[in-house]
Amino acid sequence: TTSLRVALLGCGVVGSAVAARLQQHRDDFTARVGAPLDIVGVAVRDLDRPRPESGLDPSLFTTDAEELVTRADLVVELMGGIEPARGLLRRAMEHGASVVTANKALLGEDGPELYEVAEKQDVDLYYEAAVAGAVPLVRPLRESLAGDTVHRVMGIVNGTTNFILDKMDRTGADLESTLKEAQELGYAEADPTADVEGLDARAKAAIIASIAFHTRVRTPDVYCEGIMGVTPDDIRAARKIGCVIKLLAICERTADPRGALGVNVRVHPALVPRTHPLATVHDAFNAVFVEAELAGELMFYGQGAGGVPTSSAVLGDLVQAARHKVRGGRGPGESAYLALDVHGIGSA
Ligand code: HSE
Repeated sequence: TTSLRVALLGCGVVGSAVAARLQQHRDDFTARVGAPLDIVGVAVRDLDRPRPESGLDPSLFTTDAEELVTRADLVVELMGGIEPARGLLRRAMEHGASVVTANKALLGEDGPELYEVAEKQDVDLYYEAAVAGAVPLVRPLRESLAGDTVHRVMGIVNGTTNFILDKMDRTGADLESTLKEAQELGYAEADPTADVEGLDARAKAAIIASIAFHTRVRTPDVYCEGIMGVTPDDIRAARKIGCVIKLLAICERTADPRGALGVNVRVHPALVPRTHPLATVHDAFNAVFVEAELAGELMFYGQGAGGVPTSSAVLGDLVQAARHKVRGGRGPGESAYLALDVHGIGSA
């Protein structure tokens, strides 16, 4: 069998974990896909930084990502940020590659444009790792629940802020010291303001709402308030009334008095009764609670950050996209969508 050429864009904690796994479990991947997966190049910014944990031959590293994406069947983008990731993913798809990305900022901003390119080029665009890391959520919403009607999704989708709020709740510690700890554990974004101001959760909320309600919600449509204002006093007050404070991403289907359908998407610290399943989510874990018309209540729980857990979601997407390259077919796609009215907090 001819092998499939895999290009990696970015080789940080997630990229290294993906590369190491592909090499160490090569035969398993070959069996699951039906063809070997060969890493043909890894685009990085800095060639001099050693990456021993990736196990990659140094000759595979390149700074020429533009060229690399033109000679791959599958492109895995783990660099983050809007540019050059957006241009590279576009270019990869235009050259016929299927793409896998964990880039929540890009999808929240420009998802619809990218879905259209994938549609036009008849390639896959997968992004399970963009929301809640290792937790399978994108595929369940897009595929398993495709015949149901989702009414509401409430998620703890940022590990750093859950770690902070949980620690504050359990030990009475303040925000600054716990943030430092979360950074040391490798959960926080490069710039942790994206975590504590709710911006990371906001991009994820836009992605979740888009797929849960088969519509298009962009990051700027989402009301957002972070956790910087949460004090130990607030947490004690919440405790007194049997609640815990969680940063929630809330996506709801709404109807105005005339019955016109809309969606309300917001991120803010919320009081969660201690008896609710979301209140039991500790440390940097993520959990997403889904209310669907037929299925009823569902909860998806697991590690939403960290290189190794997140590599699970990336590799799952890669196998799925690779299977399509071998046997034909495509993932669910996003061509049909409903133009729903999108509003922030207060207008539900
Ligand atoms: N900074 C993010 C978090 C990483 O804390 O959840 C995963 O997107």
